[in-house]
Amino acid sequence: MPLVTTTEMFKKAYEGGYAIGAFNVNNMEIIQGITEAAQEVNAPLILQVSKGARAYANHTYLVKLVEAALQETGLPIALHLDHGDSFEICKQCIDGGFTSVMFDGSSLPYEENIKITRQVVEYAHAHGVVVEGELGTLAGIEDDVQVDAADASYTKPEEVQDFVERTGVDSLAIAIGTSHGAFKFKPGQNPQLRFDILEDIERRLPNFPIVLHGASSVPQDLVAKVNKFGGAMPDAIGIPEEMLRQAAKSAVCKINIDSDLRLAMTATIREHFAEHPADFDPRQYLKPARAAIKELVKHKLINVLGCDGKA
Ligand code: G3H
Ligand code: 13P
Ligand code: ZN
Repeated sequence: MPLVTTTEMFKKAYEGGYAIGAFNVNNMEIIQGITEAAQEVNAPLILQVSKGARAYANHTYLVKLVEAALQETGLPIALHLDHGDSFEICKQCIDGGFTSVMFDGSSLPYEENIKITRQVVEYAHAHGVVVEGELGTLAGIEDDVQVDAADASYTKPEEVQDFVERTGVDSLAIAIGTSHGAFKFKPGQNPQLRFDILEDIERRLPNFPIVLHGASSVPQDLVAKVNKFGGAMPDAIGIPEEMLRQAAKSAVCKINIDSDLRLAMTATIREHFAEHPADFDPRQYLKPARAAIKELVKHKLINVLGCDGKA
């Protein structure tokens, strides 16, 4: 099976009340860990590549690695550009075999966001590729930030219909209180997501797939392991899994996870070197790191996203 777009995946996820995992990839072991997990539980997948990951690993290497995973697993897999910041990078990915691209114009003025997103959509659709747009800015929403200032970064429900109609995007990323990275909330802060905004958006965009970025849950056992073996991230706090499960049952069809993969890999490698300080063969530490990613992703697919058995 060739790479697929997200159209069919999202339709089934919307109707079935589950979400597809969109996992960030930048090397072979990460791709193998994710795809082996998905194969074991028969889950559809989105593998996504950021601008930085593409610069790190090289476009062609990543496409070929994902093609290898496709051949090995036979799963429906979409290859997606995460946070494309220009028409040019979106075009390069469309021309270079990706089946989905995100144009992230969320930090641009509204009309500018619409203009470039529309340009990307026209080019993408002419080439059989789907497009994710974004409205609202993701950041760490902090307790001591003025409500008005915090509100300004949430997606404004009154804009979504106009944005979707005028751009023609196939899915929309929204900001409801998630944020990128491993430090999403402060210690002692009660993690909250604005499900009221999500519900308002669902009402305004019937049958339309919504995307949740910044959705790592930052498992505390992994944080503890990182810190036990010399790390310095005691205050890493993520999105509670229960909230992600709730989101997966709603119009949210795509849930983005990167930081948790980094944590799993780093915790395992730190532990390995603490126990085997003389090792210098990369296979000795990348093998357990890959296995840790596989275990983490399996847990997400079954217990958080609910997309196991849906391939
Ligand atoms: O949303 C951002 C992703 O976590 C990618 O991060 O740009 O460091 O690859 P990156
Ligand atoms: P996390 O940092 O929460 O994993 O989010 C990743 C993401 O949104 C990639 O686009
Ligand atoms: Zn993101």
